[in-house]
Amino acid sequence: DNSLKNRIFDINKLSSEYYHKNLFTNKTALEYLSKRKINSKIAKEFHIGFANDSWDGLVNFLKNHGIAEEDIVRAGLASRKKNGNGYVDRFRNRIIFPIYDIKSRVIGFGGRVLDDSLPKYLNSPDTLVFSKGNHLYGLNNYLKSSNQERIILVEGYMDVISLYRSGITCAVASLGTALTINQVKLLKQYSSNIYVCYDSDEAGQRATLKAIDILTRSGVEPKVIILPNGNDPDDFIKENGIEEFEKIIEKALSYIEFKVYLMERKYDITKESQKIDFLREMAKILSGIKSSVAREIYLQKYSDKYNVSKEAILAEMGINNKREL
Ligand code: GTP
Ligand code: MN
Ligand code: MN
Ligand code: MN
Ligand code: MN
Repeated sequence: DNSLKNRIFDINKLSSEYYHKNLFTNKTALEYLSKRKINSKIAKEFHIGFANDSWDGLVNFLKNHGIAEEDIVRAGLASRKKNGNGYVDRFRNRIIFPIYDIKSRVIGFGGRVLDDSLPKYLNSPDTLVFSKGNHLYGLNNYLKSSNQERIILVEGYMDVISLYRSGITCAVASLGTALTINQVKLLKQYSSNIYVCYDSDEAGQRATLKAIDILTRSGVEPKVIILPNGNDPDDFIKENGIEEFEKIIEKALSYIEFKVYLMERKYDITKESQKIDFLREMAKILSGIKSSVAREIYLQKYSDKYNVSKEAILAEMGINNKREL
């Protein structure tokens, strides 16, 4: 079948081999990966590659393999030069992460700079076989792994790879976009035991709240793994080791607990007026719980923790419910 779709799959496969082979000839790229604790075994498993600092290295390689220039553009790997003839590679001087679908076909690429220049990551554009919000990086590895107890949702390529290297093969990344409904549908097919472990900076916390929202609306009640001091999973493992990460998984919060925890941090609850404001916000969070036993458990827990009666919290929740009507 020589359809355009299949031609793009073939171009992607060929390109990933080109980038991957090229990696092992480039000292700077290998040094960068080694700095990030990626050895050649892991580089091979993820088929990590390198795009040279050249305007048309890939285009020439593919043309020599009989690929039409227009198809290279359709695969999102090159664009036509603005002035004059010829085509330029999309990815230049970047570490290349091939992105796979659940059938382990290469559907696109992510490319990272070796220094602090911007943009830090560049992804393939949408093509006939790739649109960012429909895929999860690492899901193909998860599907091949023997341990499918849970899925850990992380932000980035490096987080998936770091965890995998440390024996945690169940991490998938949403590729830096806000989690989409299609990604949730995909996740749900393979596990309902979802842990969100985004970066613990502000952006990551905001993204976590959004992910919780979209997951719960699809009937998935996620847990949240909280990392300290702005870390992401890759940083955390580098600093503390995998045993500590495993301990932190065990301490994961339910999504309700996470929302209450984040809310509490906005207030100084040693001050009465702020404690009152906080408790009212907390009641709003609890009124979102559908299960009456879950509600009872949290009521008990927070009534004890904040030294306020269950009745008062419930009454506050009732006020919220009325406001919503
Ligand atoms: P490292 O610095 O390599 O550890 O990257 P990171 O994964 O920790 O990056 P960060 O937390 O900033 O971003 C998480 C994910 O968002 C990345 O893995 C990318 O998928 C995506 N991302 C980050 N920066 C960019 C960018 O500049 N452009 C695009 N398109 N995506 C980005
Ligand atoms: Mn290969
Ligand atoms: Mn981040
Ligand atoms: Mn990060
Ligand atoms: Mn990182």
